[in-house]
Amino acid sequence: MNTLDIRPLTDEHPFGARIGGVTRDNAADEDVRQKLRDVFWDRGMIVFEDIEQSEDMQFALSDVFGPPQVYAIKGLSIDTGKRQGIINIGAREGEGTIVEFDGRRRAGHVPWHFDACYVPKLNRAGVLRLVSNPPEGGMTGFADGVQMYQALSPEWQAKAASLSVIYYQYNMQQNQRFGMPDDWQLIQLQEMAQTLSEASKDIPRSVHPAVWERKTGEKVLHVSPWQADGIAGQETSEGDALLEELIQQMYAVMKPYWHDWKTTDMLIWDNWRFLHSAGGYDPQYGRDVRRTTIQGDYGLGCLLEEWKDRAAAPA
Ligand SMILES: [Fe+2]
Repeated sequence: MNTLDIRPLTDEHPFGARIGGVTRDNAADEDVRQKLRDVFWDRGMIVFEDIEQSEDMQFALSDVFGPPQVYAIKGLSIDTGKRQGIINIGAREGEGTIVEFDGRRRAGHVPWHFDACYVPKLNRAGVLRLVSNPPEGGMTGFADGVQMYQALSPEWQAKAASLSVIYYQYNMQQNQRFGMPDDWQLIQLQEMAQTLSEASKDIPRSVHPAVWERKTGEKVLHVSPWQADGIAGQETSEGDALLEELIQQMYAVMKPYWHDWKTTDMLIWDNWRFLHSAGGYDPQYGRDVRRTTIQGDYGLGCLLEEWKDRAAAPA
């Protein structure tokens, strides 16, 4: 255990940790594994510094937190010849999605979201490693739902706690409906994103609570602007305006941490608690990012049709 060097993420953020000293050897030790899981639960995201950069290490680290989820999305999985479960979420130069807003054109930008909001089962976590990054930009932002809930006004805390949000996988990139910059423009859509978008039209929508409570009592504001499609039971212009206002309230109070990657890092975040965003980079560059996904389910999501059945059932 004394081989681990555990520090706060920054002096300013009430979440996150940095840990040095994790190796494939000690990641097999049950005391070390439990310590890493405890820090993960408590702090919500961990930057593992100066860690071996290999698929074996990424799998060994991911396994500490749970079994990997295999994505059956064509073009996303990398066949390592050993195990499935690593996906490449980067893009080669010139091939990524390019957008423009706030007067700047950028490749690889992904708005604030939690992963898999558009299905009932929320995976536990993601583990990222960068094989290559552009010379500047390419940062990943993390916003803590515990921090955001606590920073909301009591009025908005109560309002948010009464809402369930509908998510639709189709509402990505050019179809995002909520929380968009006014001057946002799509310049180029990555081929894989186009394929995903087409394939997702008929996928049924899901619902997740806007606020949920962890077993340790903290309330989490957990609203993904990306892929949000309305408020369950209030799919009206008033309901849409309320969701947009909630998202703007959330943007106003969030105090995200932006990670400036080193190629000696790996990073895990709690997908039940955090939103994340990719800041993007100059479109002349590419980026190679590898993600493993940890299986899980917090048990609070459902399909919209199930939500409607429950809402219609007698109390
Ligand atoms: Fe993501």
